[in-house]
Amino acid sequence: MPQLRVHMLHEPEPDALQHLRRCLSPEVGLTLGNEVPEPADYEVLVAGRPPVDLLEASEALRALIIPWAGLPEPTRDLMIGRPGIAVHNLHHNDISTAEIAVALLLAAAKFLVPLDRALRSGDWSPRYGPNRSTMLEGRRLLVLGYGAVGRHAAKICRGMGMKVTAVRRRAGEAGAQGPDEVRPVEDLHDLLPVADVLLVALPLTEKTRDMIGEKELALLPEHAVLVNVGRGPVVDDGALYEALRDGTIRAAGLDVWYNYPKDAESRASTFPSDHPFHELDNVVMSPHRAGDPGIERVEVLRMERLAASLNAAASGEPIPCPVDVQEGY
Ligand SMILES: NC(=O)c1ccc[n+]([C@@H]2O[C@H](COP(=O)([O-])OP(=O)(O)OC[C@H]3O[C@@H](n4cnc5c(N)ncnc54)[C@H](OP(=O)(O)O)[C@@H]3O)[C@@H](O)[C@H]2O)c1
Repeated sequence: MPQLRVHMLHEPEPDALQHLRRCLSPEVGLTLGNEVPEPADYEVLVAGRPPVDLLEASEALRALIIPWAGLPEPTRDLMIGRPGIAVHNLHHNDISTAEIAVALLLAAAKFLVPLDRALRSGDWSPRYGPNRSTMLEGRRLLVLGYGAVGRHAAKICRGMGMKVTAVRRRAGEAGAQGPDEVRPVEDLHDLLPVADVLLVALPLTEKTRDMIGEKELALLPEHAVLVNVGRGPVVDDGALYEALRDGTIRAAGLDVWYNYPKDAESRASTFPSDHPFHELDNVVMSPHRAGDPGIERVEVLRMERLAASLNAAASGEPIPCPVDVQEGY
């Protein structure tokens, strides 16, 4: 008889589900689907955007696991009035997101996309023209958001010989700070002028929305490269577009955006911002795929992290990666 009953809203692909079942302790009983199971006695619900009926059907419900990183606004609105249900994330895609952040950084800093486009048409002229590339070794990376993604990206960049300063909300708290200089968010304006690269790996919360606007972009040096893999609206898109167009910063690599397709039909015809970033050759654009579970290994990791969280709950240990619903991450 399972000791922990779990309901999961979205059924994973068959291979992933099989892997999840292999990793789960026999003490975890799992039901799947968008219908309320019978009996409705699950203690843990796995869903990113839980329907109200699944939140209310089981009186035993005590935890919601969002099977990725982040707290969608509608979910936050639902959970703020339900303090008896603890919310958790998985952060399973931290490494793949960090890798895309570094890929975007390298592509933007080296202007790889325009070089690739030119050579595809037989045009070698960029080889003989001015070189706008930035060499990253010895340069300062400012990581805004020093969580699972920011730390891993920092580690890779240290390996390339970059100096790293990180900003987090609770920089003053005791605990492992890692090998990087860690500063409180209040120091941001002092740090921007000495940042050669600004990597945004923040969640979107009331405090982080528009954290990087016209004033902050103006504080960056002209040669700065900005990478955003957190959430689009942390950076004001109008101000960013103008800074890139006018050359007040050199380049950007962006995985997260402002407009997303509303349905399957609009997937091939939705510009990701109201501003024409696609006209700028100093921007590398990526369609929010950094942590996408379509990458086979990431889906394996997702199932393994989910199983570890559920197995912990089944054996009475704390579920990892708690989310502070008030703070929004
Ligand atoms: N592009 C993608 O596909 C993709 C994939 C995964 C994640 N993401 C995004 O990346 C975000 C970060 O992911 P993660 O796994 O690294 O999350 P995380 O481990 O929760 O880290 C979040 C970091 O942001 C910092 N932070 C939060 N609010 C802040 C504020 N007001 N000022 C300064 N720092 C603040 C936190 O500070 P403390 O450490 O002091 O709490 C923490 O260091 C996610 O929330 C999600 O939005 C995107």
